[in-house]
Amino acid sequence: MDERFKHYPLQAAESDFYAGNEGEKVLSAAVIGCGRVFPTHADALVKSSYAKLKAVVDIDETRAGEMAEKYNCEQYTDYRDVLTRKDIDVVHICTPHHLHFRMAVDVMNSGKHVLLEKPLAINVDDAQKIIETAKTTGKSLGVCFQNRYNPTSIWIKQFLDSGRAGRIIGCRAFLTWYRDEEYYKSEQWRGTWSMEGGGVLINQALHSIDLIQWFIGEADWLKASIDTRLLKGVIEVEDTAEITIGFKNGAKCLFYASLCYTMNSPLFLELHCENAVITLNDGIYVTYSDGKEEFIQNPDKVSGSVAYWGLSHEKLIEDYYGCLITGKSFLIDGEQAIKSLKIVKAAYESSRTGETIGL
Ligand SMILES: NC(=O)c1ccc[n+]([C@@H]2O[C@H](COP(=O)([O-])OP(=O)(O)OC[C@H]3O[C@@H](n4cnc5c(N)ncnc54)[C@H](O)[C@@H]3O)[C@@H](O)[C@H]2O)c1
Repeated sequence: MDERFKHYPLQAAESDFYAGNEGEKVLSAAVIGCGRVFPTHADALVKSSYAKLKAVVDIDETRAGEMAEKYNCEQYTDYRDVLTRKDIDVVHICTPHHLHFRMAVDVMNSGKHVLLEKPLAINVDDAQKIIETAKTTGKSLGVCFQNRYNPTSIWIKQFLDSGRAGRIIGCRAFLTWYRDEEYYKSEQWRGTWSMEGGGVLINQALHSIDLIQWFIGEADWLKASIDTRLLKGVIEVEDTAEITIGFKNGAKCLFYASLCYTMNSPLFLELHCENAVITLNDGIYVTYSDGKEEFIQNPDKVSGSVAYWGLSHEKLIEDYYGCLITGKSFLIDGEQAIKSLKIVKAAYESSRTGETIGL
């Protein structure tokens, strides 16, 4: 692998751990929720030499049965039955957003580690309770912000941390994807405040907001507006949003997200820094203040229907298990995951009240 993209921020990779597990230690996994994101988790577990998929759970018995057969494991329709199994170490939660809180708390209270799909929860109070449960039980809580493992994200983070770019002054970012009526009608939780917890911001754009605050630092205040432009009558929540965010270090970010585009484009993100302008648009363009230019090709460029999600679930999952086995802390824990959720929830409040919200 290109040295510039190597490992960082993989916690477990500082050693030769990734050179190959000799099979001394393998952890057993169960996955709750056999929907759209499920194959990404299941395939990563199949490839992993540190984990083995033992059981799948879905309230839809047919779905659970099909996936159990495909991945040669056991099936359940009630997740609590998996929690009583002594041989399961880690439970992945891939269910609708409103179920994350109850399931994550139950999993950790049963003595198992949890790898939770984003968002942490549909509100900040529940998210805080999940974090509290991780502390009291001493169990590991990992959250799937896999885009932090994209080679381009790693390159930018390393470049910023190296100090070469200087202070970050500003940022602008656009996430323009396509979701139609069929997508929202396919599952009843989608497009609802009570079950999805919001629209484009809490679901699709959460990854971009996570990256922005990871690159820039703590957000301080924001003002936002949300709207339902094309899917009114189909969804209760927003399909389009814009946020102006101020950061504690003085940087300012303009963010726009919409599901009303005609295709799923890569995230456009520009960082205006003291000594350089860094532009992510699939690949990375850097323009230095002395006029020099650099282009870093995205090595992950692939075709495939979910490429725009980011292709790094496998890396995140491998790192998560690596951390459990080597006893290291997994980087994207509850404290990290709540940051983007707080921004999104403040954006909803700002749009509702018309006020600037402090964070
Ligand atoms: N990280 C990413 O890039 C990414 C991508 C897609 C989805 N996700 C996240 O993954 C989660 C699931 O999304 P999805 O698109 O796969 O949803 P989905 O609706 O396609 O699948 C959810 C599955 O959970 C099952 N389910 C519902 N209630 C259940 C219960 N009580 N017990 C067991 N199973 C239950 C449903 O039957 C369904 O099969 C969400 O949090 C979503 O935001 C993340």
